[in-house]
Amino acid sequence: MQDKKQILKDKLTQASLGGGQARIDSQHKKNKLTARERIHLLLDEGSFEETGALVVHRTTDFGMEDQVFYGDGVVTGYGRVANRLVYVYSQDFTVFGGSLSETHAEKICRLMDMAMKNGAPIIGLNDSGGARIQEGVRSLGGYADIFYRNVRASGVVPQISAIMGPCAGGAVYSPAITDFILMVENSSYMFVTGPNVVKTVTNEEVSSEDLGGASAHSVKSGVTHFTAVNDYECIAQIRKLLSYIPQNCEDRPPALPYTFGTEIREDLEQIIPDNPNQPYDMYAIIDGIIDDDSFFEVHKNYADNIIVGFARLAGKSIGIVANQPMSLAGVLDIEASKKAARFIRFCDCFHIPLLVLEDVPGFLPGTDQEWKGIITNGAKLLYAFSEATVPRITVITRKAYGGAYDVMNSKHIGADFNFAWPSAEIAVMGAKGASEIIFKKEISEADDPAAKLLEKEKEYADLFANPYQAAGRGFVDEVIEPRMTRRKLIRAFESLANKTEHLPKKKHGNIPL
Ligand code: HXC
Repeated sequence: MQDKKQILKDKLTQASLGGGQARIDSQHKKNKLTARERIHLLLDEGSFEETGALVVHRTTDFGMEDQVFYGDGVVTGYGRVANRLVYVYSQDFTVFGGSLSETHAEKICRLMDMAMKNGAPIIGLNDSGGARIQEGVRSLGGYADIFYRNVRASGVVPQISAIMGPCAGGAVYSPAITDFILMVENSSYMFVTGPNVVKTVTNEEVSSEDLGGASAHSVKSGVTHFTAVNDYECIAQIRKLLSYIPQNCEDRPPALPYTFGTEIREDLEQIIPDNPNQPYDMYAIIDGIIDDDSFFEVHKNYADNIIVGFARLAGKSIGIVANQPMSLAGVLDIEASKKAARFIRFCDCFHIPLLVLEDVPGFLPGTDQEWKGIITNGAKLLYAFSEATVPRITVITRKAYGGAYDVMNSKHIGADFNFAWPSAEIAVMGAKGASEIIFKKEISEADDPAAKLLEKEKEYADLFANPYQAAGRGFVDEVIEPRMTRRKLIRAFESLANKTEHLPKKKHGNIPL
């Protein structure tokens, strides 16, 4: 028995070394942790249970029978984050560059199946040279097996992908289907075709970092939701993200203990400027409403005219969607609509109530937006709100103009409560534009058209640049003082805690993609 136990020990030691010490050293030299180090950092101490540590590939071509590494380039298993179960796979770049073989894929698929059956998040730590070149189509099949499961798991359990090394070719599509992507600056990249192919096909010279690094995907494409300066920060972000979200679609998000104090926030009274065209910082309003330091922003560097992220209100998770008047006056454009729609759908999948803070002058005009499809993309936002059955509350802080009023979680599309501050302006369009159209004749025939326009503008603004027409109709439930907002929201969300609403029976809707 001693001998047999020694054999086991030797095999597990070998497995723990992946592709060997030299390759581990080379990984460290690139400022990257190994697959196992990442898992141990992610999970609560001592909670990792590995599955498939002794799995090996089955390839014999190209002399592969002589190159066998236990685990086959991916460490899989389950463990706990803040004492909650998660399933994790971590690709091991020290074994064939973390490339995906048939057996490597089988390990990931088994893990995903387990996560689905047991209702816990799936976390993928990606660091891979892509399809195992020696295996050809078998490895492509392995990718497709994973993609298929990503889609099946979507909306059932949260799926999180950290990109901590290369992720190229079709391999990018697994992370793309998952709920959140995190990328590490300067050591990770994602692209469908790399710089060499780009050069051949389009004659563009571009580095991997510029083409598909963390910065490119957080600012330009919006592919990644978070960036981190190194592996440590990336893993810390995953742990934080998990703290806001439930285990599966039937679970509820975790709540922190909370003791009520004074919920009145005087600071909120000072934020809206007297001049309605002067910008102010929506982050200040968010901070004035939520529990201290609880905001966790998603897609921070992308489409900053809209802010989305998780927060806590009286200890409970909420998702925030807020126009940002500091950027493009908070206008809705294609990127902002897509960003917010995706976030809303995640929150709705996983029972996270939505708070909307609205100050929006409308949709962005122009040929660029029209030709790139602001119609279809703006409709995504409208669709996502209208479809969401989680508790939904809007606070109109200032402008709510035109179609954007309807789209930004109005009561007409199913919001449970709409509140407005006294500074709210709810109308079809701004006073100047409106007056120029409806009083066109009167203005042009006036002795002093400019003075007439001003007079009409004032008339229109007095009538509509306020929340009272909407309140009179019940489109706004209550006009509230800014300082009372936090208290009002805590009570309103509390009243919606047991909300149930079902969509009409259907196979699935057809969101404009
Ligand atoms: C097998 C691979 C591999 C792969 C790397 N290796 N990629 N082995 N299949 N795809 C091995 C290398 O042979 C090397 O082995 C070790 O991993 C480390 O690789 P290096 O090249 O030394 O590392 P580095 O310089 O850091 O470069 C990493 C890399 C490069 C940029 C990822 O290896 C590379 O370009 N690999 C090929 C990428 C690729 O074209 N993949 C296929 C994409 S198509 P030794 O023994 O020397 O340590 C695809 C389709 C998916 O993935 C489709 C899904 C639908």
